[in-house]
Amino acid sequence: MDGNGRWATAKGLPRTDGHEAGARALLRAIDVADQLDIEYTTFYAFSTDNQKRDNQEVGNILGIIAYFLQNYVSKTVVERGYRVRFIGEMRLLPEQLLDIINNINKNALNNKGKTLIFAIGYGGDAELAAAVNKIIKNRHRRLDDTPVTAEELKSQLYTINIPDPDVVLRYGGYKRLSNFMPLQTAYSELFFTHKLWPDFDKEDIIAVIKEYEGIKRNFGGINA
Ligand code: IPE
Ligand code: MG
Repeated sequence: MDGNGRWATAKGLPRTDGHEAGARALLRAIDVADQLDIEYTTFYAFSTDNQKRDNQEVGNILGIIAYFLQNYVSKTVVERGYRVRFIGEMRLLPEQLLDIINNINKNALNNKGKTLIFAIGYGGDAELAAAVNKIIKNRHRRLDDTPVTAEELKSQLYTINIPDPDVVLRYGGYKRLSNFMPLQTAYSELFFTHKLWPDFDKEDIIAVIKEYEGIKRNFGGINA
């Protein structure tokens, strides 16, 4: 979700207004994913690298995320029975936001519906480092020095039990993934739009799905 700041600046508004509009777009996107029967939807809301922004902007973004989670997302999760996953370095997040996240997780514990994944305080490099550290710790305990397999590495990512993304769609005009799921996106179909995230609408997703459905995916094999 990129382009909140530019959206606001173009309208002569403070960047915070762009982040608020971005949060409203996120609520619309949750509805669209539901209407289009998308089983797993991930929102890359705040990265470890976004922490480099000045304190005020970081505070504003995390405050808006907390507000929207508490006042909107938590209700929708209960009403629609969503499974929910928060991925990222939770220790980087303010306590008030963590309380809201823990509460949503608790309420969703027995849900069996579609899955919403929120990447907050997420960085793909930190995720890989955390996976390696978990493997080292486990192995040290067992005095195991056999080679680590790709499967073992993947099984220690935050996204355990979540299928790799079929599609990644980035808003805001840049063609890069910015530390988003570096391993999991190895075979994802990548889409980029110049639209700014607050301008999200259902037609964007319908167009992507239409194009996606025409793509033959072979995951390194030969196209039949
Ligand atoms: C995306 O919008 C929101 C977050 C990174 C949290 P930006 O804040 O990156 O907006 P631009 O790219 O400056 O327009
Ligand atoms: Mg940006």
